[in-house]
Amino acid sequence: MPLSSNDPSTVDLGDVDLFAKGAPYDVFARLRRDAPVHWNAKADGAGFWNLTRHPDVFAVSQDSTSFSSADRGIMIFDPDDEAPRPPMMIEMDPPTHTRYRSLVNRAFTPRRVAGLRDYAAKLVEGIVGDALAKRRCDFVRDVAAVLPLQIILEMMGVDPSQRDPFFDLANRVMGFSDPEFGELDEGENVAAQAEMAAFARRLAEEKALRPGDDLASELLSVEVDGEKLTPTEFDLFFLLLVTAGSETTRSAIAGGVRSFHQFPEQWRRLGEDRSLLPAAIEEILRYTTPIHHFRRTATRDLEIRGTKIRAGDKVVVWYSSANRDEDVFVEPNRFDVARTPNEQLSFGFGRHFCLGANLARLELRVMLEALLDRDAVAEPAGPVEYMRSNFAHSMKRMPVDLVARS
Ligand code: HEM
Repeated sequence: MPLSSNDPSTVDLGDVDLFAKGAPYDVFARLRRDAPVHWNAKADGAGFWNLTRHPDVFAVSQDSTSFSSADRGIMIFDPDDEAPRPPMMIEMDPPTHTRYRSLVNRAFTPRRVAGLRDYAAKLVEGIVGDALAKRRCDFVRDVAAVLPLQIILEMMGVDPSQRDPFFDLANRVMGFSDPEFGELDEGENVAAQAEMAAFARRLAEEKALRPGDDLASELLSVEVDGEKLTPTEFDLFFLLLVTAGSETTRSAIAGGVRSFHQFPEQWRRLGEDRSLLPAAIEEILRYTTPIHHFRRTATRDLEIRGTKIRAGDKVVVWYSSANRDEDVFVEPNRFDVARTPNEQLSFGFGRHFCLGANLARLELRVMLEALLDRDAVAEPAGPVEYMRSNFAHSMKRMPVDLVARS
């Protein structure tokens, strides 16, 4: 699709090449203006609706009765009928979803998350210290990726000596449409998921013998409707928590630091007034939007903005576009650490609202504090490489010279 085209009918948000250099914000702006309920035709006849305006993304996310997460999943492509697997919590509807969510909610309450603060701050001291000592580093791998991955693996009770393979494994699970990681033309990276499941299985065996004060042991002992999780259910929880808990926050940290480089006055402003930290974190989440979209399936015939949607149609909610909606955000393309209000939708909304939102905010906070304490700036030292994906809004590499000015 030529980017200069003004005809929305030619837009294909299923074309991952459109996302090869980050989000196509100009295409989103055009859709919001000219075709906010946009039918994305596909050559094979299997099209989907694109929703790009903030109120529509919000309304659909909130209405799990009319828009199902369970009916053929939450990715644009349908699940592979030849290799079916049971659903993860994120692919369930109430009441099943409600039961599974109650198993993990307890581990992510504001109080439990706040209890991780000292551990996270200590970890980040080491991460930032090591990167500063190196000076030239890949900010994604050496800094942004380490904190969220270590924290979720620590929460799960994975021994520190076994954590090394997870950076590459999480990339492979999330980067299914990137040639560096993809296994198929379209669809999930089944081999990467199987490796993660095999790891989860070993962890479950270990925890069965020696339960600890960790989330894996908790999940293995709790019951849903009087029954314990099956081994496969446990594996899928592990896969969901480790991938959802690492790639996304990594993108927010790396994208946030990049935004501060693009808007240096915002870094100075935050350095002078740390009471802006909570607002700055929301703005990083809005501006970087680590997940571009999720998909729902309409459960009944309905209308959005006068357009008829039929039961069974795929409806894709584009958070990256909603977060730049000019009707909701003043000057949406400006990065403003004091932006209030900030109704960013990066964590989705409704029943599937991100389980790890408090944790992600804590991780962003400790990272920003460590960088602010040193007035550390990341000077670009090579081209940024994005994940070729219309789902994960991630950078694969961001070479920088990390320099502490104080
Ligand atoms: C900046 C970081 C993050 C972003 C942008 C993000 C984004 C999202 C979004 C958009 C959803 C909604 C899915 C839907 O509506 O279908 C979601 C759900 C979820 N997130 Fe996050 N996430 C982040 C961090 C985390 C962390 C740290 C964890 C930790 C484990 C986590 C675990 C989950 C889980 C388990 C769900 C599914 C919740 C459910 O189905 O009820 N996320 N996340």
